[in-house]
Amino acid sequence: MGSYSDLANRPVLTQPVYEAGRPIEVVAREFGLDPASVIKLASNENPLGPSPLGLTAARQALEVCHLYPDGGSTFLREKLAKKWNLTPNNFVIGNGSNEVMILLAQAFLRPGDEVVFGSQAFIVYKLATMLFGATAVEVPMPGFRHDLKAMRAAVTSRTRILFLASPNNPTGGTDEPADILALADSLPEDVIFCLDEAYAEYLEESADLRPLMAGPAYA
Ligand SMILES: Cc1ncc(COP(=O)(O)O)c(C=O)c1O
Repeated sequence: MGSYSDLANRPVLTQPVYEAGRPIEVVAREFGLDPASVIKLASNENPLGPSPLGLTAARQALEVCHLYPDGGSTFLREKLAKKWNLTPNNFVIGNGSNEVMILLAQAFLRPGDEVVFGSQAFIVYKLATMLFGATAVEVPMPGFRHDLKAMRAAVTSRTRILFLASPNNPTGGTDEPADILALADSLPEDVIFCLDEAYAEYLEESADLRPLMAGPAYA
């Protein structure tokens, strides 16, 4: 009898393992530190603790957990649309941005498609690419910084997604908002530009891509 591995999708078996940030207690024990003195920047967790507003909302949500939640996040998308001067249809809510990136890959990637990202980019770009049999085009990052011109040059007629994180994880480098906007603007309309702003709170100014949304061919 064979094993379940023989039945599994090949890309699932060959995925690199995503190593998530380690818990504070584990790091503190390894280095002999007081856990209260450890602040984890690697996982972008809030050292100030959860917002009291978030805690109240979570408690209220528990009271109605016998019902399905609104999977479409109707009210949240309406509020976000108002805040960012967009429409609710411009928003997809995920269980973390990881989920949204996997959904993007699920929706748009086929075997033979290419996905462009930096050689030391966030590992999930590669995982999402491999999962759907697409080809990773990893652009070298001299000095651990994204080379936006080289990334643009790596785009071919087979490119479907270009991922860019600013600040990047794990290297921490950032790109100028104007350069990011220029890259996005220069891409063919059938290339999806995924700007990952997971660490945008560390920036004084982040790229605003909304001006590029006017009248796209792929609405
Ligand atoms: C650059 C980058 N993007 C996205 C994520 C995913 O974050 P989450 O799924 O928690 O939103 C991470 C998490 O480490 C990250 O480092």
